[in-house]
Amino acid sequence: MTQLRIGLMGCGLVALGVHLRNLRRHSRLRLVALADRDHLRRERAHGMAPSARVFDDPYGLLQLPDVDAVIVGVPYEEHATAAIAALSSGKHVYLEKPFATDPDEAGRILAESLRSDRVLMVGFNYRFHPFHRQMRDAIRSGAIGEVLDLRSAFHFSRQVGVDWQLTRHGSFGALFDIAPHHIDLTRFLLDAEVSEVAAKARSLNSHQDNIHLQLVMSTGVLVHCSFALQTAATATVVVSGSNGRLAVDLYRSHGVEFSPGFPSGQGGWLGRHAARRSLPVRGLHLIEKLRSPWQEPSFLGCLNHFAAAVEAGEVSSPDAWDGYCNQQVIAAALESLRSGASVAVPPAIRPAASTTDGPR
Ligand SMILES: NC(=O)c1ccc[n+]([C@@H]2O[C@H](COP(=O)([O-])OP(=O)(O)OC[C@H]3O[C@@H](n4cnc5c(N)ncnc54)[C@H](O)[C@@H]3O)[C@@H](O)[C@H]2O)c1
Repeated sequence: MTQLRIGLMGCGLVALGVHLRNLRRHSRLRLVALADRDHLRRERAHGMAPSARVFDDPYGLLQLPDVDAVIVGVPYEEHATAAIAALSSGKHVYLEKPFATDPDEAGRILAESLRSDRVLMVGFNYRFHPFHRQMRDAIRSGAIGEVLDLRSAFHFSRQVGVDWQLTRHGSFGALFDIAPHHIDLTRFLLDAEVSEVAAKARSLNSHQDNIHLQLVMSTGVLVHCSFALQTAATATVVVSGSNGRLAVDLYRSHGVEFSPGFPSGQGGWLGRHAARRSLPVRGLHLIEKLRSPWQEPSFLGCLNHFAAAVEAGEVSSPDAWDGYCNQQVIAAALESLRSGASVAVPPAIRPAASTTDGPR
């Protein structure tokens, strides 16, 4: 088995905390080069990967013929420049979220990705969490009947944000930092696009560190997502259907809870309580979780998916199209915050050269 040779562009929080740790124990991926403009970050990364060549200019490593693919972990203002440069240098790209800063940049990454024969995958890692995949399978199998709504909360307990997150253009707060994850998860779980967005924000400890999004999906399903940067960590998703309910909290649950619906007047509290059950959990999940960087196994799942897509030479979701759609929702949310009104998301027509089977 030939290993995929990886270059790391940006050696900050996510690179040091997650990607370097996952790469160190990956049999199919080998880190051969790393770059950061900050000397201390570079040195810390080099300490974790002593055999990798070191660059201060991330674009320098794109010239190396023995780098097959790059992980882009620079601040998101740099995503479009870095991803386009990497694709046009013939590298496969794992691009961290958020995809870009606005739909114009997102459109340029999408166009380059369609032109290129390389794989570009976005780091929407939460779709690779086994509990979320179980939820999706259950929804698709009709276990909860017709889906009525999805409610999610993604709250972090970080005390102080890194500088660029707090200062960028006066900062876009939680909308750019964590909302892209659950926007993607919503598209993924519900197999639908977002057609309308209403957003509300509060600034408690930093600019817009608390955001609520109301989404209307192309199927009519209603969604409410809450995001907060500085409170008790929470990652809940609850999907209600005509025939039951699925619920999970990645920080507290040991599995996805399924509660069947009862015809009106039947069940009672005891019956409903007794009927609740957890969907079967894969045996090693807890060990995997505890071993994972940030105790989040979906990062490795996402990286494995990237490696498999490159090996197969196939575009694979979450791809540039998913990134582009995500950015349209963020842009609509920004417009809603500005105007105070609900904002329609432009209808999405997936270009022919991209993946064809909808959000996966
Ligand atoms: N998937 C996730 O859950 C997740 C988690 C955290 C961060 N992220 C994303 O990863 C990216 C990086 O976030 P972070 O928290 O690691 O940020 P960070 O600020 O800790 O790290 C960014 C690094 O990039 C370097 N850098 C800045 N400009 C550069 C440039 N032009 N070229 C090379 N290096 C440059 C900085 O010196 C810094 O070391 C962001 O897009 C962020 O949204 C994703």
